[in-house]
Amino acid sequence: MAEKISEEIKKKIEKLVKELNYHCYRYYVLDSPVISDDEYDKSYRHLKELEDKYDYILPDSPTQRVGAPAIEKFEKVKHTELMLSLDNAFSHDEVREFDKRIKKMLGTEDEIEYTVEPKYDGLAIELTYKNGLLFRASTRGDGYEGEDVTQNIKTIKSVPLKIENGKIPGEIDIRGEVYMELDEFEKLNKQRGKKGEPLFANPRNAAAGSVRQLDPAVTAARRLYLACYGIGVVRGINFKSQSELIKWFEDARFPIPAVIKVARGIDKVIEAIKELEEKRGDFSFETDGAVIKVNDFGLQQKLGVKTREPRWATAYKFQAHQGTTKIKEIHGSVGRTGVITPFAVFEPVRIGGVTVSRSTLHNWDEIERKDIKIGDTVVVERAGDVIPHVIKVIKEKRTGREKKFPIPGRCPACGSKVIREEGEVAVRCVSLHCPAQVQEKIAHFASRGGMDIEGLGEKNIELLYSRGLIKHFEDIYKLKKEEMLELPRFAEKSAQNLSEAIEKSKHATLAKFLFAIGILHVGEYAAKLLAKNFRRLEDLYKVTPERITQIKQMGEKIAASLFMFFNDQKNIELLDSMIKLGMKITNPDFKADKKGEMPLEGMTFVITGTLPKSRKEVEDFVEANGGHASSAVSASTSYLIVGEEPGSKLDKAKTLGVKTISYNELLKMIEKRPKNLRLF
Ligand code: IVH
Repeated sequence: MAEKISEEIKKKIEKLVKELNYHCYRYYVLDSPVISDDEYDKSYRHLKELEDKYDYILPDSPTQRVGAPAIEKFEKVKHTELMLSLDNAFSHDEVREFDKRIKKMLGTEDEIEYTVEPKYDGLAIELTYKNGLLFRASTRGDGYEGEDVTQNIKTIKSVPLKIENGKIPGEIDIRGEVYMELDEFEKLNKQRGKKGEPLFANPRNAAAGSVRQLDPAVTAARRLYLACYGIGVVRGINFKSQSELIKWFEDARFPIPAVIKVARGIDKVIEAIKELEEKRGDFSFETDGAVIKVNDFGLQQKLGVKTREPRWATAYKFQAHQGTTKIKEIHGSVGRTGVITPFAVFEPVRIGGVTVSRSTLHNWDEIERKDIKIGDTVVVERAGDVIPHVIKVIKEKRTGREKKFPIPGRCPACGSKVIREEGEVAVRCVSLHCPAQVQEKIAHFASRGGMDIEGLGEKNIELLYSRGLIKHFEDIYKLKKEEMLELPRFAEKSAQNLSEAIEKSKHATLAKFLFAIGILHVGEYAAKLLAKNFRRLEDLYKVTPERITQIKQMGEKIAASLFMFFNDQKNIELLDSMIKLGMKITNPDFKADKKGEMPLEGMTFVITGTLPKSRKEVEDFVEANGGHASSAVSASTSYLIVGEEPGSKLDKAKTLGVKTISYNELLKMIEKRPKNLRLF
């Protein structure tokens, strides 16, 4: 129970909130604190103690920025006034065109007064204040409707929880950009890299990813900033111009753009954008352009909006950042799907405020085309995104000691032989052992179309992998329930269920197994064809490309892939070890006898309406008997199997003259069946 509160304590709490908010503003908005961090922390703790003791918490108390629980999903928020985007100008000439259009529309020769601000590369946000208190924060979304991110935005210390000074409007929608500073962005990516988490491509994605977090604690841990540049609905104040609005923002302690220039006439505007472009590298944040706005709100009103963009504003885009550096090394990196991508390691170079030390080279054709060698001096460009690209080699700087980087013969992650198919740019590792791919391969193996191991989805695979419990494919079958129980996501029931699902998956058909192990080009249909033609898994071990191409519908690509796969001793060892661990593979699909003995050989079936068995079961049945099950009726359909309440496929079959049969007639077609066939 809270203690009864005296007027004196109330005053004390109110004073502490006011003081702490002021210091927060000095620190995060003005970047000029007047007390030490320790002093701030001491006052904060004092306030927190009093609040807890007396249960007297002001809505703008700094303690209210943190501690909100995680949510399941964001609520939708309709913006009272549409949140607009901006038209672009890519040259000074286009900026002059913009000015001409405005003069023409306003029917004047007089010089127009504009404001010029940096364009922040972040996430647009609307802050709604009611009677001076922050009521809600929402993302821009599609302009009409965004998401409620109030709890997350509250954790950003430069966002005022209360409008402190100046005239306070009854209601106001303030718009601005939430962004991440470049050094924070680099730090965050470094940390993520160490933890093996995916990196953010640019500060914009990092800011957006941090705001769109279901758990506000995650947002709070990222250092985000705000720059306010506009308003939507406002009641109680009549702003006359952009510069007046920005002045009010400043008085009311809102963070504003780092630079705002008022420029009369387009020549002055161009001077201002040139200046911004020169300064661009000095800013602590990413900016890819300058926003030019007609200053006078009355004129803005007259000019209006064309669909989603105001006629009174445009964004001038800066040139992409470039720099020159030297390539120290080239390596290949293996992606989760086995594709090997070359990348260059540079001598670190600062380009537009970001240290660049590596870049993807995309593929070997690109290396060839641009004639990139180790030791080359290259021009590197960072276009908005932080991921840089090698634009060209400066050939004049060559010394003759530069070295070509050949296509690697072996996978850099596992040492297996790599393949490059004819006409393809991608070089791939197809080994089942490759640590770079093992998680992806296991996910495919366990997926519904594969061995259907319920409970072994991507998240659990990631967890089991990170704890070293599955390093290789076959480790799935070595997993023990006790080991699962030690993991955070598992309880008795879930561990039991997963153990059972794994056990169940040990009984598989050859077709399913061949599909599940993920041999390049072997999809469900090809796996079934193989199962029809090879009795046992071991029969494939010595397969030749010629033998595969003898099978109708199997081409050279798949033949080469199968040959490569079964020719790799490590793969064979793995398959054997899976069998030793208890895998039992049966092959009901095998067509034991000569061609033509399969009763549905060469026929294509389509199903419509409800049959006595599930559609999947009937399709499997058709295929097990040599037929092909398809989902759409065409001229090549042999039979349409018609169940209850047939759909439009029946009309189509009639139009095309396709024969129709009932489910019982289908069963009759298979009366004369060879030994190996599977019936329900
Ligand atoms: S004005 C006029 N001013 O750029 C309506 N927008 O490409 C547009 N942006 O959605 C807002 N810095 O997220 C304005 N100084 C600035 C800006 C800015 C960044 C963003 C904003 C907008 C996007 C349009």
